[in-house]
This record gives sequence, structure tokens and C-alpha cells, in this order.
Amino acid sequence: MENILVTGGAGFIGGNFVQYMAANYPKYHIYNLDLLTYAGDLTKHQAIENNDNYSFVHIDIADRQAIDALFEKIDFTYIVHFAAESHVDRSIAEPEIFIRTNVLGTQVLLEAAKRANIKKFVHVSTDEVYGELEFDPTTFFTEETPLQPSSPYSASKASSDLLVRAYYETYGLPINITRCSNNYGPYHFPEKLIPLTISRLLNDQKVPVYGDGKNVRDWLHVQDHCSAIDLVMHSGEIGEVYNIGGHNEQKNLEVVKTIIRTLGKSEDLIEFVEDRLGHDKRYAIDPTKIERLGWRPVYDFDTGIAQTVEWFLENKAWWEQIISGEYQQYFDRQYAQK
Ligand code: NAD
Ligand code: DAU
Repeated sequence: MENILVTGGAGFIGGNFVQYMAANYPKYHIYNLDLLTYAGDLTKHQAIENNDNYSFVHIDIADRQAIDALFEKIDFTYIVHFAAESHVDRSIAEPEIFIRTNVLGTQVLLEAAKRANIKKFVHVSTDEVYGELEFDPTTFFTEETPLQPSSPYSASKASSDLLVRAYYETYGLPINITRCSNNYGPYHFPEKLIPLTISRLLNDQKVPVYGDGKNVRDWLHVQDHCSAIDLVMHSGEIGEVYNIGGHNEQKNLEVVKTIIRTLGKSEDLIEFVEDRLGHDKRYAIDPTKIERLGWRPVYDFDTGIAQTVEWFLENKAWWEQIISGEYQQYFDRQYAQK
């Protein structure tokens, strides 16, 4: 049996990836390593938590001793590294934890991986490391686009990308870096635009849209992201970067209006608020390189949004428990100044 270490497997994308691997690779033993910050929760894994080939490891990736001890006990074949502080607004308010987790935490993992006999270290990064594009619809991020991060979050992710690259160039660590566009789908944490919009609309609350709502994001269903990482992990050429995106550009205001229509709510619930500092105008991925590897997204946006809205309707207990806790204080702080 091969051991796969998934960091951040209690979060949104890592959680979906753990489920995806459990369903598709019963011969792998999945080690889900997570600190369980505000963004992590294990209830999503109740159906697999007693499986012989699933283990949860409660560790901080920046805790060198704990990581080293884990690697002494277990021989990992694959490491898929999702664990991170992931929300841009939080990074603008409090950057420091982003440096500790995203930069130092990644280096601690790389160092442990260097001493282990792994087949692949997949570093899950983001298109935000490229900075922003103008609204010109003919320009896209390719793997050759220079890194020009705008926020403390994206700067910390770019820093970790460079460390991963350095461990490949210097020590020959077998790595891939994936840079994905905005994900959406089940278990999306309700601080991010789509789940925030759905959860607030379901409570007939106003939806805050930053600036004029014309910023563009390139949305990808989380299941399509999982299948892309699977492909890169097993077939990606060592040392290479792969951009992941589904050519699905949407203005924020269009996204909010689509959800309003899906839920049969009123556009009067839209509230334009002060813009995010350093707000990137547009993200758009050129996925040619990963398509050449054989990847295609399955979800179109209408189907994906309908499925996601349905999921939030059917799983109210999950997000209601989140928005009634620490999250409420975050929301009040974040949107008070706006
Ligand atoms: P998330 O915030 O939902 O989950 C992050 C997980 O990491 C949580 O379970 C949290 O408890 C865990 N974590 C945080 N700090 C930790 C630490 N020090 N040690 C161990 N675990 C820790 O994030 P997400 O949206 O699922 O994003 C996952 C990864 O994908 C991140 O690296 C992010 O940069 C990247 N990414 C996200 C998107 C997106 O649209 N959400 C798009 C592209 C790339
Ligand atoms: O592109 C990939 C990135 O996508 C990931 O690396 C990040 O981890 C992930 O959080 C996401 O970053 P964004 O900043 O693009 O996502 P967010 O959902 O925070 O915002 C999406 C857009 O919606 C952005 O233009 C800001 C806007 N927005 C966001 C919030 C939370 C609003 O207008 N109102 C809001 O309340």
C-alpha cells in the first residue's frame, strides 16, 4: 500500500481531494494532516474516518519537530500540499500568519520530503501569484507569466512556489507546482464570494460586492481541480508547473446575480461596498499545458453553480454552525469598515 500525505485535508479543496482519493484509490493510505484552524473541519470526513486506509494527523506544518517525527514513522510516496492560510482579505488585515504557514510551513515540509524517498511533492499554488490581468479578453496567464503577486496572501504563495522550485533545482526533489484559478463547490468556506453570497441570500441578508463588481475571476469546480491534481501527481513531468483553469471568466456582479436568480431572490439584496485594497482586476488561465496532459473540466458554470447551491441548501447545518461561531466576529470586523 502506498502512503499519500495530504496537508490541509480538513479544508475546502484538500477536503474534497481526500474524498476524491478515498473514492478513486482504495489502495492508497491517506494521511490527512491538518492543524484545524478556523478553516478546517473534520465532520466532512465522517463517512471515511474509520476506514483502515485513512488517518488524521493533527499537526502544524510549521512545527519542524512534529513534521520530522511523522516522516520518521511513515514512508510517504506522494505529498500533496494544500495547507495554507487562503483568504486574501485576512492577509490584508493580518499578514504575519500567512508568512509563517505558507512560507515557513512549506519549507519545513520540503526539508522533510528531501530526506524521504518520495515519488512526487505536488505543491498546490494559485493563479494569484501572477498578479492581475487587464480587462483585455485576449490575455491569459501562462506558466511563463512573471510572478507579480499583489496581496500578502499571493506574495506568500509566490514565495512558497520559489522555495519548491529551489528544492527541485538544488536537491533534485521531484516536484510539481499547480496554479489554479478560483474554485467553488461543496464545503467552500463561507468567507469567500460564492459561499458567502449563497449563505447570506438564504438568510435574506445583503451581499457585499466590492467596488463596482466588475473584477473578473475564472471559476473552476473543485471536482475538476481534484482530477487535475490527480493527473499531475501521477503523470506530470517532474519539475514542471501546470496552470489549471476552465476558461470560465465571470464578473463578480454576474456571479452574484446568477446565484440570486438560482435562489429566486431579489437584486435589491446587492450592496456595493468599499473596494478591497490592491484588488486584482482580472484572472484568466491558459490551461493548454495541462490539457496536453489529457485533462478536461467536466462542469460548466451553470451546472456547477446549480449543484453548489443545491448542496448548500441540503447542508445548512454545516455552514450555519460555521457562521454562528468565530466567523461572525470576523464578518463584523471585515465589513464594519466598508
Ligand atoms: P482553506 O482555507 O479552505 O483550507 C486550508 C486548510 O489548511 C484548513 O483545513 C486549515 O486548517 C489548514 N491549515 C492552515 N494552516 C495550517 C498549518 N499551519 N498546518 C496545517 N494545516 C493548516 O483553503 P482552500 O481554499 O481549500 O485552499 C487550499 C489550497 O489551495 C491553498 O494552498 C490555496 O492557496 C490553494 N488554492 C485555493 C484556491 C481557491 O479558490 N480556494 C484556488 C487556487 C489555489
Ligand atoms: O484565484 C485563486 C484564489 O481564489 C485563491 O488562491 C484564494 O485562496 C481564494 O480565496 C480565491 O481568491 P479571491 O480573492 O479571488 O476570492 P474571494 O472569494 O475572496 O473573492 C472573489 C472576488 O469577489 C474578488 O474579486 C473579491 C470579490 N468579493 C469577495 C468577497 C469576500 C466581493 O466582491 N465581496 C466579498 O464579500
